[in-house]
Amino acid sequence: MEFLQLVAQRSSVRAYTAEMPDDATIVGLLESARLAPSACNRQPWHFYVVKSPSAKQRLCEAYHREWFRTAPLYVVVTIRHDEEWVRPADGHRHGIVDASIAAEHICLAATEAGLGTCWVCAFDPEICRTALPLAADEEPVIILPIGFPDPNARPNEKNRKGAEEIITVV
Ligand SMILES: Cc1cc2nc3c(=O)[nH]c(=O)nc-3n(C[C@H](O)[C@H](O)[C@H](O)COP(=O)(O)O)c2cc1C
Repeated sequence: MEFLQLVAQRSSVRAYTAEMPDDATIVGLLESARLAPSACNRQPWHFYVVKSPSAKQRLCEAYHREWFRTAPLYVVVTIRHDEEWVRPADGHRHGIVDASIAAEHICLAATEAGLGTCWVCAFDPEICRTALPLAADEEPVIILPIGFPDPNARPNEKNRKGAEEIITVV
């Protein structure tokens, strides 16, 4: 797919069919995350593929929405704080930036594979923790539900600020 077409086609999917994507496709999505850039190449991320009914149930308790339950699987993107790059000038930690880039790679790769995703950050991190075997210094950052978009769901409008509002050449 042409890159801009792919970017325009990705949108938040909030209704999925029950069909489970095949393993090879999921491996491809994760490969796109593995190859993502990160500050100082620290790669402070981890990706949990959540398929088991008990772990899925925990995620659905961490993010209580009916639509969220329809996803056949989830990828939780975490960061390990002891591995992230910290900017010496001001101590700004960059793990969330790294995790975000990797997560968006997954979303774009999913779009190309005909799958839908949605960024979810408004979850309860303490409940999310109980679904995963996290290391001590590890934080869940993004949950990505993944599945085939329900063909009966209404597509989202692309509501964006105009280029003139957000771009300044200095
Ligand atoms: C950092 C981040 C957090 C988000 N968290 C949620 C969320 O918790 N629940 C949700 O339904 N959508 C969430 N979204 C999706 C946004 O609402 C969505 O990307 C935005 O409205 C633009 O719509 P589009 O993705 O369809 O282009 C999140 C997106 C981002 C980038």
